[in-house]
Amino acid sequence: MQDVKWWHDKVAYQIYPASFRDVNGDGFGDLKGITERLDYIRELGVDLIWVSPVYRSPMADKGYDISDYYGIDPRFGSMEDMEELIEEAGKREMKLLMDLVINHSSDEHEWFRKALLEVKQGKEGRYAGYYIFRDGRDGGPPSNWRSIFGGSAWERVDGTNRYYLHTFLKKQPDLNWDDEALREEIYCMVNWWLDKGLGGFRLDAIAYMKKPEVFMDGPADGDDGMCNVYQVCQNLPGIENIFEELKWRTFRLHDCFTVAEANGVASERLTEFMGEDGHFSTIFDFNYIELDIGENGWHDKKPVTAARVRRALFASQKEAGEIGFLSNVLENHDQNRVQSRFFPREDQGFECGSMLAVLQLFLRGIPFIYQGQEIGMTNDCRSRIEEFDDVATIDQYQRALAAGVPQKLAMETANFRSRDNARTPMQWDDTANAGFTDGMPWLPVNPNYITVNVKTEEADAGSLLHFYRRAIALRKSEQYREIFVYGAFEPVMFSNDNIIAYKRVWNGREVLVCVNFGGKRETIQDGAFSGTILLNNYDEAVQGQKEFLLKPYQAVVMEISEGTE
Ligand code: GLC
Repeated sequence: MQDVKWWHDKVAYQIYPASFRDVNGDGFGDLKGITERLDYIRELGVDLIWVSPVYRSPMADKGYDISDYYGIDPRFGSMEDMEELIEEAGKREMKLLMDLVINHSSDEHEWFRKALLEVKQGKEGRYAGYYIFRDGRDGGPPSNWRSIFGGSAWERVDGTNRYYLHTFLKKQPDLNWDDEALREEIYCMVNWWLDKGLGGFRLDAIAYMKKPEVFMDGPADGDDGMCNVYQVCQNLPGIENIFEELKWRTFRLHDCFTVAEANGVASERLTEFMGEDGHFSTIFDFNYIELDIGENGWHDKKPVTAARVRRALFASQKEAGEIGFLSNVLENHDQNRVQSRFFPREDQGFECGSMLAVLQLFLRGIPFIYQGQEIGMTNDCRSRIEEFDDVATIDQYQRALAAGVPQKLAMETANFRSRDNARTPMQWDDTANAGFTDGMPWLPVNPNYITVNVKTEEADAGSLLHFYRRAIALRKSEQYREIFVYGAFEPVMFSNDNIIAYKRVWNGREVLVCVNFGGKRETIQDGAFSGTILLNNYDEAVQGQKEFLLKPYQAVVMEISEGTE
């Protein structure tokens, strides 16, 4: 077992600040809005808050393109607002995590402007060294890499045969982590932020931080003859040295918490990434978040069955074992809403929302709840591609059309998958713009705010919001905290395919978590557990004499009485 760390028992909440709460009426969420709603977050039972980027940015990728790491973008407020937020969160015993986007900067960062000047003058010096410039090949880019958001991952510098690498948008040039001066700049900045009293960071897109010595073509994976960056540039050898130095020069000096967006980490490397002495405190488990994506990519929607979720979830929990703590997520700002992703429209609502809460919150690891998940926000629907804001959706839609996907299917897929679904404003009440802003929201509010909103759910003790509060309170209760934080995860298999069940086992005590992942009633005949129900999303009991009866999407948490198996 790992030594006990201050963050082991935390429950985290992700805020996408542009869409959380707008206090100054410009239609864009702000830091003051977050401070204003801290009591709401605290009341959920949350004690870690991850705030997506609020640094100064031209917003080409909604703040994931930073032009000044030391500044707050005026759209979000000021540095005083940030300091106030950290302090106010602290007063409520919550810690703040900022997003650390250091695989790339914005092309409007002063470093990159200076780098371009150097390249154009043919005198590549300090700043050109901060980025990745290479000569073009045969009148084209240095390699056939396709960026994550589409198009070549290389952009030519005007008037030269030099190209710079961008894993994401061309407005997001990749930083060169082989450059010592660049590394020193970043360490200095990270420590500067930690000195302000942050709890730590969520690290963005870290899988791409190590680049190869030589850029070679990868195998074409599309009609454009290109190869997606993630096929050729993920977790390359040597990346561990970057992570270790970063850790020892910054995070370890402050005993802070770090959670990494670490795509594609093989199970053999989990110890290295999140073990006792791992590069990070924890990494997100994305194993079951994208189960709906079929083999043919973006427009191929694959049904999410209980069996597939169970397999993925159990595999993750088993691999992580007691190596460390995964961060468990169902939603974030890059995904559509989970109820819409997994279930048909007519089934969406309290039952399936609360069932998902049970499934997620009692796993071993740190739960991350995404804003609005706790009130059951669902996908929105748009009729024209022009109505989307998300750069990724627009690119995927256009590429799908170019590849011959019918327009109707492409539009349906855009609506289903778009990151905009997670970014519609938080639904606070049933007044204009869902109480998010007095101005014109930067992205339209989902029309279902009339019924799905915080105020309505506050007033209803049977709402999803109240259920989340109860579930988190149980997880954190004196009596069960240790079981849910440190208890071993043990899969439980029943013959009903729609049932997902597991036990948490600690010091001779056992808690069973059992959910019906389907919209039909289930009778479990091979389950002779009995004990005390700790949480149930229906009023009805589940236990017959020798069986369990679970209604559609029913979910229960039960402490098993000794000797009942
Ligand atoms: C991460 C972020 C995503 C962003 C990308 C580039 O995947 O979660 O929102 O677009 O990195 O920074």
